[in-house]
Amino acid sequence: MSQFQKKTQITRLERLGSDIIRITLDSPEISKIATPGQFVMVRTGKGKDPLLRRPFSISQVSNGRYFQILFKVVGRGTALLAHCREGEYLSVLGPLGSGFQIDYTTINCLVGGGMGIAPLLFLGKWMSRKCPDNLPLVVIGARTEGELEPLVKDFQEIGLSVYPATDDGSLGHHGFVIDVLKNLNLDAGSKTYVCGPYPMMLAVHLFCKEKGFSCQVSMETSMACGMGACLGCIVPVERGGYAHSCFDGPVFDAEELLWEVK
Ligand SMILES: Cc1cc2nc3c(=O)[nH]c(=O)nc-3n(C[C@H](O)[C@H](O)[C@H](O)COP(=O)(O)OP(=O)(O)OC[C@H]3O[C@@H](n4cnc5c(N)ncnc54)[C@H](O)[C@@H]3O)c2cc1C
Ligand code: FES
Repeated sequence: MSQFQKKTQITRLERLGSDIIRITLDSPEISKIATPGQFVMVRTGKGKDPLLRRPFSISQVSNGRYFQILFKVVGRGTALLAHCREGEYLSVLGPLGSGFQIDYTTINCLVGGGMGIAPLLFLGKWMSRKCPDNLPLVVIGARTEGELEPLVKDFQEIGLSVYPATDDGSLGHHGFVIDVLKNLNLDAGSKTYVCGPYPMMLAVHLFCKEKGFSCQVSMETSMACGMGACLGCIVPVERGGYAHSCFDGPVFDAEELLWEVK
């Protein structure tokens, strides 16, 4: 698998909400070979603070040259990134990991929560380009309209039907994405592609298991190296032992993982 460590130029920095940022980076090397579900490790500071790169899903690719990351400011690394300026360079390592396995012959449903929606944008665009006759359904949720509305528009712009949910009811269903998914009455053989908080992915996995739908999940564990060289990202697997979510994942068949049901 090819990866590049590159100084990539920020060509655009957009603020989609008070703490949600989209950065477009100029990297033909990464953009040409990235597939949906893969991620990059980004050095967020100038020196060694923070020491570790931060992982971000590739959320869009365009013209074989540019790719985007979409993130929420949650700590030091993301706060530093949010203060970057267009024209500056970021050190980026990628594309990394193993992405979604797509089946173009069935009903596909993308299910995302919070910033877990980021990789699904790339996936939705990829599916609609490769198979315009079989567009996926999109079920996405966030805390409030402000966080969700720009992303709903992104999916709608590529012609996809979006079913939103918000915690406060300000956009779409008042509640969780799992409720929306249940109400869609998907046919047997449907496939779900999921990314978001652990409890949400677990709920979707359990529902899919009950219905006999296949379910792939993208695990957003913490990561140190992003390349299989440490044990920072391990997740327990059903067959026993652990998998590296940076290398064997981040996308897994949900049945492969050993879920922690509380
Ligand atoms: C494969 C992968 C893809 C990711 N893609 C995206 C993306 O597209 N957009 C995005 O916004 N984020 C994404 N993340 C999460 C992102 O990497 C973290 O938000 C980021 O590393 C936080 O860095 P920080 O220095 O700002 O925060 P830190 O100072 O490291 O942490 C601040 C707070 O955020 C929490 N936190 C850190 N990482 C995560 C995480 N993975 N999930 C939940 N809470 C976390 C910490 O526990 C802490 O409470 C992804 C993670 C992985 C593993
Ligand atoms: S982050 Fe180091 S092995 Fe996965």
